[in-house]
Amino acid sequence: MKKSVTVRVPATSANCGPGFDSLGLALTLYNDFTFTISDETFGFSLDVEGEGKDSFHASGRNMAFASFLAVWNKITDRKRIGIHVKMNNQVPKSRGLGSSSTAIVAGVTAASILSGANLSQDEILQESNRLEGHPDNVAPAIYGGFTISFQENGVAHTLRTVPKMPLQFIAVVPDMQLSTHMAREAIPKEIAHPDAVFNASRTALLTAALLEDRPELLQYALEDKLHQPYRAGLIPGLPEVFTAAEEAGAYKCIISGSGSTLLAYASPEKDGDAIGKAMVEAFARCGQISRYLILQLNTKGTEILQTNL
Ligand code: HSE
Repeated sequence: MKKSVTVRVPATSANCGPGFDSLGLALTLYNDFTFTISDETFGFSLDVEGEGKDSFHASGRNMAFASFLAVWNKITDRKRIGIHVKMNNQVPKSRGLGSSSTAIVAGVTAASILSGANLSQDEILQESNRLEGHPDNVAPAIYGGFTISFQENGVAHTLRTVPKMPLQFIAVVPDMQLSTHMAREAIPKEIAHPDAVFNASRTALLTAALLEDRPELLQYALEDKLHQPYRAGLIPGLPEVFTAAEEAGAYKCIISGSGSTLLAYASPEKDGDAIGKAMVEAFARCGQISRYLILQLNTKGTEILQTNL
């Protein structure tokens, strides 16, 4: 018996400035995972093409396998299977573009389909959120669009929407990984009340500005005092790149997720290449090699590209 499924999961950008662990959006950059299970073999095997292909290993610690098994072992009592994963990887790893969420959502989705359980999107969200610990990347990876998420008693809730505001996103990816764990350690456990007020107002403003198409508000609405000031020191050149993005025509630039990618929000009418080049040059002046990607909002979320059941 051999069965397979190919799952495409988009990159995501969490936080969106002020919405720490809550806001997220999906981007037009993808990781494709083909899971093949067989009862004639046992254990893991992996075949990776694309971004960081030599940094992935077939083991139970690889997020794609771990997420698959977390769900598979709950749903079925068939423990002795061979799992082969073929990845076509386009999302840079450990750069704040949700690469681990692509693996988690792909693993959960593949287990759901190959076991025949066919979980709902909400069930996939709950499983993925349990594995990730916060829903701001996994929610847009599943639903696409712009998502507002929160957790209550361990249950994730998401409002998914598509902003009326037309946007392009210029992602400048430094040649430097930044672990989410380290970036979270940089944030203080407690914050001052005025900073909480600052972020509550910006998060509400950002959501309304996106939905009402009020781009002139983005310069305020994308500001943050919960995580960016504490993480700025981990990304040398950040202030210079932020300034370069705005001078080249972006509305504003933020840290994507926990970094190291910096993401400029811009009108589609602006020259994305000019913004990207200005940001890359600003990083270079600070001694940091980087590259840029011009991306759009993905509205499809996770897609099943092929099944062989
Ligand atoms: N909200 C998360 C953070 C996203 O900023 O740490 C990265 O996983």
